[in-house]
Amino acid sequence: MLSKNDNALLTRVGPGTLMGELIRHFWLPALQEEEVAVPDGAPVRLRLLGEDLVAFRDTQGRVGIVEARCAHRRAGLFFGRNEEGGLRCAYHGWKYDVTGQCVELPTEPRATNFRERIRITAYPSEVRGGVVWIYMGSPDLAPALPDFEFNRLPRAHRVVTKRLQQSNWAQAAEGGIDSSHLSYLHDSKTDTSRTYLRMDRHPVFDVKEIDHGLMITARRNADPGQYYWRINRFLPPFYTLPPTTQGRKGWSPGTYKIDAWVPIDDENTWNWAFVANPDQPYSEPEREAFGARDGFAGPLDEHYRPLLNRDNDYQIDRERQKNVSFSGIEGVPNQDAAMQESMGPIVDRTRENLGNSDLGIVHFRRLMLRLAGDLADGRSPHAAANAAVYNVRPAEVLLPDSVPVLQGAADLLRGSASETGN
Ligand code: FES
Ligand SMILES: [Fe+2]
Repeated sequence: MLSKNDNALLTRVGPGTLMGELIRHFWLPALQEEEVAVPDGAPVRLRLLGEDLVAFRDTQGRVGIVEARCAHRRAGLFFGRNEEGGLRCAYHGWKYDVTGQCVELPTEPRATNFRERIRITAYPSEVRGGVVWIYMGSPDLAPALPDFEFNRLPRAHRVVTKRLQQSNWAQAAEGGIDSSHLSYLHDSKTDTSRTYLRMDRHPVFDVKEIDHGLMITARRNADPGQYYWRINRFLPPFYTLPPTTQGRKGWSPGTYKIDAWVPIDDENTWNWAFVANPDQPYSEPEREAFGARDGFAGPLDEHYRPLLNRDNDYQIDRERQKNVSFSGIEGVPNQDAAMQESMGPIVDRTRENLGNSDLGIVHFRRLMLRLAGDLADGRSPHAAANAAVYNVRPAEVLLPDSVPVLQGAADLLRGSASETGN
């Protein structure tokens, strides 16, 4: 459990909050590249860390992400005209370039220098791996993009999807760290890849802080003389790397998934799923199976909200819950969303009762609260300035019971070498 104050500190991310400032030290995935694919195409609404923004691709192909409202009398720039190298407000025609600078001010006399003084907030963005990344922190720090392996792979080796989750980011991220729910929430009689998860439903957990993140190991008894290890990772500020279950239907050997839990505001979160296989490309049907068209959780509406959602109780099927699957809900991310959204928009952590299996979650909170405390004392998070920390993978592995897990799994846990030397 957490105190009321610590719960607020962990979960509040708007401008001026400590956690919000901490997360602003990192690059965040903001949009699918295809959402702003067309120069002079329609502007796109975007909300991150409680700030309303608008994204557009200008005539030269540069992506701009600017505050949502015009500096003149605050009309919404979403309704603006994206033309001739900038976004023009539909109200009185003031126009801004991708840096937020006002470049035309047709309502005022030419002689004044009023225009030069007008600017709206604009955040740097970079397109990598099919995603538009945004940096909302201090321009003085301007870190390099995190060196995720999936960002360097050709398109055929990765599938990137996002979905709306209607809960605070932290309880969503905690779901990504929580290994023990696999034997329950996601269990299904039709899935034959779960032998070891079923053989031992009482894993032994250990958590170590390594390379600015967490390494959360779950050890299960397997065949005699062997342990089945699942190594789950957390990287600040919101990445979870759940281990893949090899043999899972449709997951070619080498496939792994990394989740990002990006706060939209205190009560809504983007769940990005980065599915990658560095060893072999996916076929188009495989890409579609990972949601390239429909979303990882199954069909989404045009705002990336899953069609199975809290308004329809995720279409829980009580018959299937009795006879086929533990949850009765279709799709792993929908099962997670049902649990995490049902906690309330911001879970009341003063009322929890944590057990041994929640060790990873305890460490996640401790780490994030410590980083926030460090920031309050003037110390920026190291991981934000350390792109190489992100070149890692999750792992599952069977090892002789005499081999220490981090030794036995060392090669599996590294991403392939980056050309930039990271
Ligand atoms: S409100 Fe935008 S130009 Fe007037
Ligand atoms: Fe889950």
